[in-house]
Amino acid sequence: MNRKPNYPIADFILNRWSPRAMSGEPLSDNELFRLFEAARWAPSSYNGQPWRFIYAKRETPHWDKLFNLLVEFNQSWAKNAAALVVVASRDTFEYNGKPERTHSFDTGAAWENLALQGTINGLVVHGMEGFDYKKAKESLGIPDGYTVEAMIAIGKPGKKESLPKELQEKEVMSDRKPITEFVFEGKFKK
Ligand SMILES: Cc1cc2nc3c(=O)[nH]c(=O)nc-3n(C[C@H](O)[C@H](O)[C@H](O)COP(=O)(O)O)c2cc1C
Repeated sequence: MNRKPNYPIADFILNRWSPRAMSGEPLSDNELFRLFEAARWAPSSYNGQPWRFIYAKRETPHWDKLFNLLVEFNQSWAKNAAALVVVASRDTFEYNGKPERTHSFDTGAAWENLALQGTINGLVVHGMEGFDYKKAKESLGIPDGYTVEAMIAIGKPGKKESLPKELQEKEVMSDRKPITEFVFEGKFKK
């Protein structure tokens, strides 16, 4: 572990990272749905739960539709994922139809729950913005009033050597900015 927190935090937070090496082994529905269950318990404004997840497992006819949304770079490693997920969020509250200002914020919390649960379960969970957002909306039948947020690759860990050469070097845990750069007392600091 090359990550060093400046204050003590739970191991599962520090241990979450975004590897790209996956084995290509399938995931059972039970393994996959444990992650969606974790997402389910995220907090949201007025408990609106605006997150939506559209998934495809590799061994199913749905896979190609999601895989073909990805840019070539992401395809080069995500081809070994067991499942791909498109994350969308509902822009308005279901109970009154008014805009839910925090729909993306809340959906981000759900995605992080999913990623943390995946880490705890020994899976690779890797967020992606490198895909065709417009095509995702159209090809997956995502209605107006929903925002496409991101995609996720989920799979069993694989060998680093299975990745293209240039990605093998990147297969390390990244560091973070110091707290002083993003936490401000009383007033925003530029
Ligand atoms: C919303 C989101 C989009 C991302 N998009 C991509 C992507 O398209 N391709 C990729 O290889 N990594 C992608 N990443 C992974 C980030 O680069 C990674 O999370 C970041 O460098 C921090 O590293 P860590 O997750 O290992 O801690 C994405 C992550 C998030 C949360």
